Amino acid sequence: MAVHLLDTQYNADSYQKYRFSPSENLQSVIFSYLEEKKVNPIRLAVDVGCGSGQSTRVLAAHFEKVVGTDISEAQIEAAKQAASFPNVSYHVCPAEELPFEDGSVDFITAFTAAHWFDMPRFMKEVDRVLRPHGCVALSTYTTDFSMHYKDCSERLTEIFTETRDLLLEYADEKVKLVFAEYKEVFESVPFQDKRRVTQILDKIPMSVSGVIGLFQSFSMYQAFLRNDPEAAKSLLQKTEQRFLDTMGVCSNETQVGFPQAAERIPLIRQLRQEFFLLGQGIHLFQ
Ligand SMILES: C[S@@+](CC[C@H](N)C(=O)[O-])C[C@H]1O[C@@H](n2cnc3c(N)ncnc32)[C@H](O)[C@@H]1O
Repeated sequence: MAVHLLDTQYNADSYQKYRFSPSENLQSVIFSYLEEKKVNPIRLAVDVGCGSGQSTRVLAAHFEKVVGTDISEAQIEAAKQAASFPNVSYHVCPAEELPFEDGSVDFITAFTAAHWFDMPRFMKEVDRVLRPHGCVALSTYTTDFSMHYKDCSERLTEIFTETRDLLLEYADEKVKLVFAEYKEVFESVPFQDKRRVTQILDKIPMSVSGVIGLFQSFSMYQAFLRNDPEAAKSLLQKTEQRFLDTMGVCSNETQVGFPQAAERIPLIRQLRQEFFLLGQGIHLFQ
């Protein structure tokens, strides 16, 4: 029953289509940290709350084996359907009950997922499965996006923010931890050797329909949709129209791929990732 309820938190199809992988910048901070902490050998990485696998797949090149875990069967099914790597596999399970032997995991990640977990139970599980000198990285992107298009970037960003703020009414209490930039999550972590890194900027080309799809992938939009389908759809239709009117274009596919000359990129989403790394080899409950 619990799994069924969590399956409705996100729409796995729109999640797979519109969410993005952890940025190069974020990855480079994480892998530098692992080097600094000498996490070697790098046999097994576990990506907890992996969703449809975008975050899991970026670990494939760095570890012998990568396992993505998620409580949602629909998300794991979407992850399995996506193109992947032979050393990546997926498993349905709660973050608080990981199916790994004591001291068997080198690295644990949770990208934009830790706010959903029961943190004390999750951290206890992390402590159990992590081998000595293993590390854990928890990250989230913030919701203060800025949009860029010719001379109307500011107005587009305002429209984005207004729609996001309307959706806030449907945000689960836990999503508020993301709005608070994971400060409370960070403080709740009992490890002593921990580091918080903020202000990681990321720029991703995106069309207007991509931005609308991103809204659809938010759990707070899914909650709105369940509560009042017509109003939810209408909000995004109006938002899309406001974007197009502001840009003075007709097509919601208005975009060019990256890399292109900056002035030819019509719309770029810029986001800030908040994340922190915790480690290394700390045993919490001795
Ligand atoms: C915002 S998505 C992040 C997915 C992916 N890590 C990414 O970066 O795109 C959060 C995921 O956490 C999962 N989740 C929520 N509570 C969970 C729990 N207690 N244990 C495991 N996964 C959970 C949800 O099913 C969802 O797929």
